[in-house]
Amino acid sequence: MSKPILIGPFTQVLPMAGLPLKGALSDEQLTVIENGGILVSEGKIQKVGLFEDLKSETDSIQLIEGEQVCLPGFVDAHTHICFGGTRAKDYAMRNARISYLEIAKAGGGIWDTVTQTRKATQEELVEGILQRSQKHLQNGITTIEVKSGYGLSVEQELKMLRAIKQANEKTEADLIATCLAAHIKPKDWNGDKTYLEEMTSTLFPIIKSENLANRVDAFVEESAFSPEEIAPYFQKAKEMSFDITVHADQFTTGGSEVAVQFGAVSADHLEASTEKEIQLLAKSNVISMALPGASIGLGCAYTPARKILDAGGALAIASDHNPGSAPMGDLLAQASILGTFEKLSNAEVLAGITFRASTALKLTDRGALQAGIQADFVTFPTNNYQEITYHQGQLKPNKVWKNGKQVFK
Ligand code: NIG
Ligand code: FE
Repeated sequence: MSKPILIGPFTQVLPMAGLPLKGALSDEQLTVIENGGILVSEGKIQKVGLFEDLKSETDSIQLIEGEQVCLPGFVDAHTHICFGGTRAKDYAMRNARISYLEIAKAGGGIWDTVTQTRKATQEELVEGILQRSQKHLQNGITTIEVKSGYGLSVEQELKMLRAIKQANEKTEADLIATCLAAHIKPKDWNGDKTYLEEMTSTLFPIIKSENLANRVDAFVEESAFSPEEIAPYFQKAKEMSFDITVHADQFTTGGSEVAVQFGAVSADHLEASTEKEIQLLAKSNVISMALPGASIGLGCAYTPARKILDAGGALAIASDHNPGSAPMGDLLAQASILGTFEKLSNAEVLAGITFRASTALKLTDRGALQAGIQADFVTFPTNNYQEITYHQGQLKPNKVWKNGKQVFK
C-alpha cells in the first residue's frame, strides 16, 4: 500500500456525513471542521479531521494555500448529456407562448433531438458527452448520471449507450448510464411487436450482455407513456434486475405512483405533484428528485421541494441537463436558485447534490467525506460555506479531486 497523503489545511471541511437521508435539515446539523484535512490513500479517504492532528499520520503533505471550503464531489443524478444538435428554436417558440407539450404534439421537442441524435456518429456523441462532462467536472461534479432516450430504436439506443460507456472510459468523472428507451413513442415505429416489447425483448438483453447500464427510466406522461403502458416494461426491467427510475409528475400526475409501485430508486421532476403524491413518496423509499433546470428552461413551477422535505421525503437535486427543457446545465446555480424559491437551508441544498443524490444512484461509496469512500472532493475559494449557495453558482470551485487525484487546477 502506498503512503497516505494529507491534503489541507482547509478553512472549512463539510463532510456531509452522518446526516439523515430523509426529511428537513437545518444548517445547525452540519458538521463544519475548521482547519480540516483529508488523509487519502489509494484513491480512498482514510481519515477526515483537524489538519494538525492528521499530520502525525504521514510525512507526505499537499499544502493548500489561501481560504478554501472543502465539500464532497457533487453528484448530478439526472442528465441527458448524450445528444446531437440544438433546440434553440424550441426555446424561442416556448417564449412565444407555444407550450412544451404543444411543440411535442406538432412533432418538435424530444422528437427533434431524436432526429438530430440519430444523424450523429457514435464518436460525435462521445465528443459531446466529454465536453459537457468536463464542464461539470470543473463545476465540482465528479459523478454524472447520463441517459439514452434520443435513439428510440434498438440500434440507436445502443449507439447512445455505447457512446456513454466509451466516454466514461475517457473522462475523469464517473458516468452512470441509464436506458431511457421509453422516452417517447417513436413516430416511425412499424414493428410487429409494440415498441416497448421490442425494447424489453431485444434491447434489454444486449444492454445486459455488453454491461451498458443497470438502470431503466421511462417518461410517464400524457405525451409519452401512461402508467398502464409502462407497467409491463418496468415489470420486465425488474425481472432482469435493472434499477428503476421514473420521469414522474412533470405536467400531470401518475408517474410517482408508478415509481412507488415498482420500488424505483427515484421519482424525478414532480413539478405537478400534489399533497397526495408528496405523502406517498415521503412514506416510501423512493428519492424525490427536483430538476430546477427544467423549471428554469421551461418557465414552469418548481418541484415542491419544501413540502417534500417537511413531509419527511428524501430530496435530491439534479440538473436534467438536456437540449430541450434544461439547456443551462449548471447544477449548483440551479440548486441554489431552487433554494431561494423553495426556502431550503444550505444543508438541504448541499445534501441534495451530495449524499442524497448518490443514494438515488445506489452508490454508497461517495456523497460524503468519510473513511473508506472515494476521495472525490471539491474546494471553493472562500472561508464560509454559506457563500457557496449565496453566489448562486457564480462562485466556482478552484480545485477538484477525483479518486484522490487532482483533476482540476
Ligand atoms: O427530463 N421530460 C422528459 N425528458 C426530458 C426533456 C427532454 C427534452 O426535452 O429533450 C426532461 O425534461
Ligand atoms: Fe430528464
